Amino acid sequence: MQTQSKGPKITVDAIKTMKQRGEKIPALTAYDFPMTRLLDDAGIPLILVGDSLAMVVLGYPNTTQVTMSDMLHHVRAAARAHPKALLAADMPYRSYDTVDDAVRNARLLAEAGAEAVKAEGGRSILPQVRAILGSGIPFIGHLGMLPQHVLEEGGYHIKGKIDSEHEALLADADALAEVGAFAIVLELVTSRVASEITKRISIPTIGIGSGSGCDGQILVTPDLLGMLPWFHVKHVKPTLNAAEQIKTAVTEWKQLIRAPGK
Ligand code: KIV
Repeated sequence: MQTQSKGPKITVDAIKTMKQRGEKIPALTAYDFPMTRLLDDAGIPLILVGDSLAMVVLGYPNTTQVTMSDMLHHVRAAARAHPKALLAADMPYRSYDTVDDAVRNARLLAEAGAEAVKAEGGRSILPQVRAILGSGIPFIGHLGMLPQHVLEEGGYHIKGKIDSEHEALLADADALAEVGAFAIVLELVTSRVASEITKRISIPTIGIGSGSGCDGQILVTPDLLGMLPWFHVKHVKPTLNAAEQIKTAVTEWKQLIRAPGK
C-alpha cells in the first residue's frame, strides 16, 4: 500500500512563506488515517488533529472531556498516513496547566507524530508556549473564542466586538508572534479585528468563523462535508451532504440484500 502522497514535505517555514507570498492557507481537521490520507491527497498543506475530536468522533458535548490518551490514539492514527502536509495536534484541556505539563504533553504528542502543537490562549499561557518552543516543538496559537472555556463562557460567542476584547486580542497576538508561534488560529473573531491582526503580525492567521481577511481558513472537516446533520455551524457552508449520501447508499444496499437481483 502506498502510504505517502507525492511532492515535498510541507514544513513550518513553507506555511510561513505562504503568508509572505499572499497565498491563502487552507487547513482542515482529521482524526484518523483515511481522512488524513484523503486531505493530503487533495493538497491540504496543514492538517490538525483537533480536540473537536470530542464532538465529531467521540460523542462528547464539548472539548473539555478529551484526554491526552484520546489525542495520542488519534494523532498516531493520522500520522500513519505519513502526510506531506504539516500534521499539527491540539493540546487537550488541562494538559498545559503548568510549564512542566505543557512540555511533557507536547513531547508525547510529538512522539506520537505531531509536527506542531496548538493550545488555546495568549499572554496567559506564554511561559508554557516558550517552554514548548524551547523543547523544539513548533507552536500554533489559538485566540478568540476558546472552546476549552465554553463552560465558563456559557456558549460560543464572537470576540472583538468591545474595546477591551479588541485590545486583548491585539496584545495576545503580538505576544504569541514575538515568542515564536508560527501561526495563530483566530476563532469567532470579528472580521474587522481578524483583518487588523492579520495585517499587524508577520506570522499567518488562520481563521474559523472570523471572516475572509485571515491568511488562511480552517474548518472541522465533518462540518465541511455535511457529515453531522445534528450540528448546525453558522460559519460553514458544507460542500457535500455526506450524511444523506451515506444514508442513501446504506439504504440501497439494505434493499439489495433483501431483494437480490431486483
Ligand atoms: O479542534 C479543532 O477542530 C480546532 C478548530 C477550531 C480549529 O481547534
